[in-house]
Amino acid sequence: MAKKRILIVEDEFIVAQDIRSSLDRLGYAVCGVASTGETAIRMAVELRPDAILMDVVLKGDMDGIETTRHIRGKVGIPVIYLSAYADVGTLERAQVTDSFGYLLKPFRDRELDANIRMALFRAEIEEKLKAAEKIIDLNEYLRQEIARRHQMESQLDETSRQLRLLSSRLLDAQEQERKLLADEIHDSIGSSLAAIKFSLEETVHHLNQDRDGVLENMQKIISMVQEAIEESRRISSSLRPSLIDDLGLLPTIRWLCEEFQKVYSDIRIERTLDIREKNIAEALKIVIYRIIQESLNNAAKYSNADAVQLTLTKETERIHLSVADNGVGCDLDQLEKEGQLTGMGLRSMQERAHFSGGWFEIRTAPGRGMAIMASWPTKRLTSDGSH
Ligand SMILES: Nc1ncnc2c1ncn2[C@@H]1O[C@H](COP(=O)(O)OP(=O)(O)OP(=O)(O)O)[C@@H](O)[C@H]1O
Ligand SMILES: [Mg+2]
Repeated sequence: MAKKRILIVEDEFIVAQDIRSSLDRLGYAVCGVASTGETAIRMAVELRPDAILMDVVLKGDMDGIETTRHIRGKVGIPVIYLSAYADVGTLERAQVTDSFGYLLKPFRDRELDANIRMALFRAEIEEKLKAAEKIIDLNEYLRQEIARRHQMESQLDETSRQLRLLSSRLLDAQEQERKLLADEIHDSIGSSLAAIKFSLEETVHHLNQDRDGVLENMQKIISMVQEAIEESRRISSSLRPSLIDDLGLLPTIRWLCEEFQKVYSDIRIERTLDIREKNIAEALKIVIYRIIQESLNNAAKYSNADAVQLTLTKETERIHLSVADNGVGCDLDQLEKEGQLTGMGLRSMQERAHFSGGWFEIRTAPGRGMAIMASWPTKRLTSDGSH
């Protein structure tokens, strides 16, 4: 085994030589001798001895205790004090610096050896303890990391469960929508066209006999065609209001509100549209329209409100939308817990807002009405005014 390397810090040359001989006899290797505090600190850092024998009283600015404090602040080398004095003050100061031994001069080889061995043993144990503490810390870190990952995994599971649910609902909704459309086309345009065909056949039949009757029939047919045209307009505008493309979002919102008021005359809509059409990105228009449409539908179905405040404004580079009713409100967490949030409306509003880069929030509580709020950054215009 390699000899343990000892640094001697002693300002009396003769004493230092004595200690060196003792250490040689005991089988240690002396790696250096320092006679001042400063040199001792430098040598401790550079030579990294296994232990240091430190004279308490040193010439110069720093005594042995002060020197030890500096060394222990930089490296974890055990220090054994050597001193001719054992007064309480010095001992107490030495204790504070975490000393590994205190030898009173003059000492014998056996005492020196025992002190060095004890110091080396303690330093080794402390080293192992530190390593064990590091492992404990690492274990704790790993435990937390594993818990974090478990949590992330279960969040991911939940998200993908919601996504599956949502996509199956989307398919259902699409099917329902198609059925509704098929019924509408069948009942309105289909039956109008059937009536038109029947009347035309009748007219052809009477063509040569009854001129006045034919004219009268023709008038009827024209008004039936007119009705069919209006029906087809109604169906297509409930699918996607062409007004948005033709006139813009703001007139379409006004039209939607008027249509709503015709059906639900006991709910007053208070409208604030404080924004310019050109500040709303094209792709955002249908998103805003659908959110307003669904919020109004929900207010009509559930809120029992007598007023709805609809606000669309532009403030500091953001578009703000809010549709708030003064009705019964609800406890969404409770509905969710009871598995009653099976509708698509609120979810699809939120999805539409998020997919279009917006922020979305529902504020509601029993007896407090419901407010649907969303906001988006305004579209950026280049210096020439284009997008
Ligand atoms: N304005 C409101 N006031 C009170 N409760 C509301 C209001 N809007 C929604 N709710 C409650 O939130 C639930 C979920 O609404 P959501 O629009 O998501 O679904 P839905 O209207 O039931 O079905 P869908 O919109 O798919 O036709 C409703 O069933 C209702 O209980
Ligand atoms: Mg709804």
